[in-house]
Amino acid sequence: MPRRLLVTAALPYVNGHIHIGHLVEHVMCDVWVRFQRLRGHQVAFLCADDVHGTATMIAARKRGISESQIIREMGAAHVRDFQAFAIAHDFYGSTDSPRAKAFVEDIWRRLVQAGHVNRKSVTQLFDPVQGCFLADRFVKGTCPKCGAADQNGDSCDKCGATYAPTDLKDARSTLSGAVPELRSAEHCFVRLEDLRGFLEEWTQRSGALAGPIARWVKGAFLVDGEPLRDWDVSRPAPYFGFEIPDAPGNYFYVWVDAPVGYIGALADWCATNGQERAAWWPRRDEPGYADPSVEIHHCIGKDITYFHTLFWPAMLQAADWKLPTRIHIHGWLTVNGDKMSKSTGTFINASTYIDSGLDPAHLRYYFAAKLNGSADDLDLNLDEFVAKVNSDIVGKVVNLASRTAKFVPTLAATYPDDGGLFAAAAAESEAIAACYEADDSAGAIRRIMALADRANEFVERVAPWTLKKDPAKAAELERACTISLNLFRQLCVYLAPVLPGLAESCGRLLGCPITTWTDAQTPVTGATIGPFERFDRIDPAKVAAMVEASRPTDTPPAPSPLPPPPSPATPSEPLAPEVTFDDFAKLDLRVAEVLTAEEVPKAKKIVKLRVSLGSLGERTIFAGIKAAFPEVAVLVGRRIVVVANLAPRQMSFGTSEGMVIAAGEGSSAFLLTPDAGAQPGMRIH
Ligand code: 2FM
Ligand code: ZN
Repeated sequence: MPRRLLVTAALPYVNGHIHIGHLVEHVMCDVWVRFQRLRGHQVAFLCADDVHGTATMIAARKRGISESQIIREMGAAHVRDFQAFAIAHDFYGSTDSPRAKAFVEDIWRRLVQAGHVNRKSVTQLFDPVQGCFLADRFVKGTCPKCGAADQNGDSCDKCGATYAPTDLKDARSTLSGAVPELRSAEHCFVRLEDLRGFLEEWTQRSGALAGPIARWVKGAFLVDGEPLRDWDVSRPAPYFGFEIPDAPGNYFYVWVDAPVGYIGALADWCATNGQERAAWWPRRDEPGYADPSVEIHHCIGKDITYFHTLFWPAMLQAADWKLPTRIHIHGWLTVNGDKMSKSTGTFINASTYIDSGLDPAHLRYYFAAKLNGSADDLDLNLDEFVAKVNSDIVGKVVNLASRTAKFVPTLAATYPDDGGLFAAAAAESEAIAACYEADDSAGAIRRIMALADRANEFVERVAPWTLKKDPAKAAELERACTISLNLFRQLCVYLAPVLPGLAESCGRLLGCPITTWTDAQTPVTGATIGPFERFDRIDPAKVAAMVEASRPTDTPPAPSPLPPPPSPATPSEPLAPEVTFDDFAKLDLRVAEVLTAEEVPKAKKIVKLRVSLGSLGERTIFAGIKAAFPEVAVLVGRRIVVVANLAPRQMSFGTSEGMVIAAGEGSSAFLLTPDAGAQPGMRIH
């Protein structure tokens, strides 16, 4: 039964370049889309830039250009990056499109008419330097619930609490660093509680959410006896967005028009591609509304779950639009076990990856091999990346073709007896398909690699390179190569959603393009073998170059994760006199997070640090580490170790309330960093 699938990835903010974190999602989505197309389903894969909000306004102000210029420039860059990674969007739009605006206004009118909107005065944080109210994202501070430092204005990464930005402790504007002020203005609210019955039903019983996500939504938001909080959907001027028709001087909060951008992108695509919007995303009174073969799929990261499982379905329901069939949710990307970070060169832009000469297919494969349909975080371990791609794709798959394609000019006229290998791999088709359907490309790849192992055992056993040496064995050689190349092709069909380029190259090699999933069921025979196209191994030097190119140019490189070789030039410092355990226990060493780092004009060797010790509060520490950190800003956000019970020391420029622990001194001072997971305030024993 052919399905009509509308598929979206989360709309990237226009304010930054596409990085490898975005690529996890777009690869996941693209693999799903390509799989569905191979299965014969109709797919519209749509995306757009999410352009509204304070950040765009501020960026335009800083650069002295219009918002639309930023939107044009960044839109082109985003499209280029996604194309480089073979993300097969049918259309890439922008949330400021006139069609999107009309949909936002229409949905709004329906919400108002249904009586779901009310107005209330809101006291919000205001940046006195930038002269604007602050979106949640632009406020950082300490979580009011668990005390974790440097948390966003709407929710805490550490404990998952959601709150208003005014609840944050020690709030700062991330736009200017200013301490925000409180100001009041009237806002429009959507009363989500009105739609509670629907939300209970849709989140818990429609099948749109995986079990663990549905349970999380229930436990976090749909708690029995606790009404859903009204959703604040407007922002007073100045704000870059769509003005609210019945509340002049107020604008739709970016999270209102962002998901409506999905419908806007669909309408824009339809207008230029002879498609009917209603055929893909019907309203209640349009055919298709209740048709289960018309499906809507959103792929998102787990951080925006609540927008897509509460607000968005509530808006669609209230305005009589078809609801999403399924929300596909993935976890966050870490690199080498840690959050992506500029200072360690692991905040890697898509363009940096490309410019380093690495093959996008390699990253697609690695991400696909890790994505398993759960919202668990996934790690890009750069060593494993090199090893896995080289071993799986080059060593196990392409190997089947590279070792046999050049030995014979044509495939045998009939497919030889292979002892059941092709048939066994053909029989795996539905099991592999079920994995792809469930976003478990990792499971699909495990099965495909098991087939590759069996194919390689066959090639090793028949050793075509030996048969080639004996002219009497020409027929045997042709049979061996025909089997090997067909097993290769079968793997290419199964890998086609992940590695479309490899599938195309295989099509050229055997003169028979791969176009459907069922191509894995029938061997190719008699074809003239075309030229073998190389599929290169990953060169680890290029990976190192990419990391290097991802570091900020004006900061010293972060210490390498490998210990540096011992240097005979460093005189070893004599061991200090022995102490007892009790002596040691007198020292209270704590994990601290650097909140701010400033130069001290009167003392060239000193850096003034403001650090958070979690629930123990904040401290000011003067540290003699300036020579090692000429750009003090790189210290902000680092977790370090401090002596927390040292008596305060009065210096000419202020009082130091602790001491930072470091190895070495001067320009060779190396700060100590705890393993990932250590929280500010933890004691070091
Ligand atoms: O989190 C983000 O990056 C948002 N720009 C995603 C928006 S998705 C959709 F709702 F538009
Ligand atoms: Zn918290």
